Amino acid sequence: MKRSPKRRLILAGTLGLLVAGGALAVTSTANAATTLGASAAEKGRYFGTAVAAYKLSDATYSGILNREFNSVTPENEMKWDATEPTQGQFSFTSADQIVARAKANGAKVRGHALAWHSQQPSWAQNLSGTALRNAMVNHVTQVATHYKGQIDSWDVVNEAFADGGTGARRDSNLQRTGNDWIEVAFRTARAADPAAKLCYNDYNTDGQNAKSNAVFAMVQDFKSRGVPIDCVGFQSHFNSASPVPSDYQANLQRFANLGVDVQITELDIEGSGTTQANSFGTVTRACLAVTRCNGITVWGIRDSDSWRASGTPLLFDGSGNKKAAYTAVLDALNSGTSTPPPTTTAPPPPTTTTPPPSGSGCTSTISLNQWNGGFVATVKVTAGASRLNGWTVNVTLPSGAAVTNSWNASASGTSFSNVSYNGSVNAGASTEFGFQGTGTGPSVSTCTAR
Ligand code: G3I
Repeated sequence: MKRSPKRRLILAGTLGLLVAGGALAVTSTANAATTLGASAAEKGRYFGTAVAAYKLSDATYSGILNREFNSVTPENEMKWDATEPTQGQFSFTSADQIVARAKANGAKVRGHALAWHSQQPSWAQNLSGTALRNAMVNHVTQVATHYKGQIDSWDVVNEAFADGGTGARRDSNLQRTGNDWIEVAFRTARAADPAAKLCYNDYNTDGQNAKSNAVFAMVQDFKSRGVPIDCVGFQSHFNSASPVPSDYQANLQRFANLGVDVQITELDIEGSGTTQANSFGTVTRACLAVTRCNGITVWGIRDSDSWRASGTPLLFDGSGNKKAAYTAVLDALNSGTSTPPPTTTAPPPPTTTTPPPSGSGCTSTISLNQWNGGFVATVKVTAGASRLNGWTVNVTLPSGAAVTNSWNASASGTSFSNVSYNGSVNAGASTEFGFQGTGTGPSVSTCTAR
């Protein structure tokens, strides 16, 4: 519509009055997202809650769940004791209910937890050695396969490090099967559901300390050896004796810098009023400030739903009313700087750098985990119409970049060839190798069959 100069003047004058009277501020608040999930989504993140299947029939509970949250974590229903109460007999009814509800609401699902020293069925508690290792592998395979394609992120291994200053692994029947049990669980989960992000999840790792340093070293080691790990979960159970650490954001960031996503997985903060609200605001802002922080999950909806209800640690009171802590989180989400969605939330299609195989030959595709100053490249080698008896992939590194180490390949500069166990690749099948480096990672590669 074309306006006359006079009309434009009147409009401008009215606008000036509205600004002076604060009416514009009201307008912009009215336009801000009004639920946790919608606001987090505007920032490329999710806002989730732990859910108990038996509470889904509670109208207040379900009403808040459907309105506010776009991610859910089954609080107990996917644990080993719930999903495999008798060895080899799986029971998914309660967890399926939660997943179906999430799907109907367009919410993501965080799977929790595949391998854990706690909440094991008694038959598993009584196993050890190879029998337990095999049972664990079967459990991870069966559960991850049952939910294949439906889980955004899996807590593959939960709470495997000891508290205190040692940085040691927690003693458990799983740990006693051998130190490699964690990487075996991750490799098994990847094989069962390649699309799910695979997380290590723990508590008391929220600031830099001996325990988080030990987890950090494990993640660094996994990345360097190509053990599939995509994310680290920080449970974030806080109270006055264990408040939000001052280096909370810095700790999230140092993990993100290793090339993994970070997630706040079980947030609750005991307390009330402004003090509690401020702590919730701090945690929310920390996640928004770390690009690879995918989202926040609170460990329950109402205070009365909490595993430590007497500490009133959640965002809604026992009647389902929003608390000051709720408003602090929503305000932090709404005023936070908008950052692009973390890359792994919607992974970019891998760069195909060689033409599709015509008959024989091979192709190579590079997936990059890039951070400021370094990268991890995972390269998929796919055989054409004929079986490969060996392969070499040459990559072109941007200037200033360098390869520091590699796995599942024999490296010579920027040329990578198969090792003894992965040279033979059936027609149409694939194998993977990886390498780590400094600077900007490569996007161009060529594959040559031998
Ligand atoms: O379902 C039974 C019920 O039939 C029985 O009558 C009742 C008697 O105790 O127990 C009920 O099961 C309880 C279950 O929660 C469901 O309410 C278990 O005893 C109880 O141990 C279990 O607690 C859960 C706890 O993990 C177990 O370790 C909490 O709900 C759950 O919030 C909590 O979650 C953990 C995360 O998985 C890992 N991180 C820490 C977090 C808090 O502890």
